[in-house]
Amino acid sequence: MNLNSPTLPDLGRELCQRIDESLLRSIEFDSGCPERLREAIQYCLLAPGKRLRPQLVLFAAEACGGSVESALPAAVAVEMIHAYSLVHDDLPAMDDDDLRRGRPTCHKQFDEATAILVGDALLARAFEVLATEIQPAERAARCCAELARAAGANELVGGQADDLDQSVNEHSIERLEFIHRRKTGALFRASLRLGAIVAEANSRELAALDLYGQHLGLAFQVVDDLLDVSGSESEVGKRLGKDADHGKVTYPSVLGQEASRRRAEVLIDQACQAIEGFGSSVAPLRELALFVRRRKN
Ligand code: IPE
Ligand code: IPE
Ligand code: MG
Ligand code: MG
Ligand code: MG
Repeated sequence: MNLNSPTLPDLGRELCQRIDESLLRSIEFDSGCPERLREAIQYCLLAPGKRLRPQLVLFAAEACGGSVESALPAAVAVEMIHAYSLVHDDLPAMDDDDLRRGRPTCHKQFDEATAILVGDALLARAFEVLATEIQPAERAARCCAELARAAGANELVGGQADDLDQSVNEHSIERLEFIHRRKTGALFRASLRLGAIVAEANSRELAALDLYGQHLGLAFQVVDDLLDVSGSESEVGKRLGKDADHGKVTYPSVLGQEASRRRAEVLIDQACQAIEGFGSSVAPLRELALFVRRRKN
């Protein structure tokens, strides 16, 4: 996958460079961190992903009159949680994948124990970044609580557990959405909420961005499921066709591809409607939503 790919939203490119510089600075560990672990952390965190979640944090902050500078720690923290979740998601005990972002997965490039520890380190560091770099302390605490909730057993981790649970043979739309809203949607939603919180958004702005995040997060996983059955491996940068092999409950498996595409369209429209009241300050969020609808990676 190439960060300069034409499929990425144009206005995100400059920001991605800034995000990557901040990510790199945020993993300058001291001598307590073994070199091989540091190398593996950098391999996973700086791999060529789309950086959608940190962009969402920054765009949400700007939409509420905040600055990129003050929202960057939250953007970094969210991407750290995302990168950790991918490293663990790819492990043999989970989805057992060997390709991520067009490169060998962490446990293939290094080893399983290192991949587990990379995830552990990123998870801890994310909260350290929030706690130490967001001002004032009360806002930092609120950001920690928001991200911990989204990353925890009620949300991301709970969704991942249900996604892997082969004992439940229920392929209903209700179960599917319940899984997708937690395993993927929660971190999207948290990205918008964190951006709003660091920018001192009012409750109306926070609610609108939250709703946008919920619709976008679900749409994003609908498209991820579709790409798994109909994408191109070289564009997506992951092995495809794995969801069916693993008996996963996905949008195409429950609704079929056509209805899944329509569902994604409706969700993207609802996401855009949720933020209509902001006017031109949400143009980047609208463009990002349209990118999610047409993305090929
Ligand atoms: C992949 O997310 C994991 C899912 C939630 C489907 P992304 O497609 O945003 O991954 P990167 O960061 O661009 O690699
Ligand atoms: C991943 O969902 C969600 C998280 C990592 C939390 P998937 O398992 O569908 O993601 P990919 O397809 O491996 O990127
Ligand atoms: Mg998975
Ligand atoms: Mg997976
Ligand atoms: Mg997938």
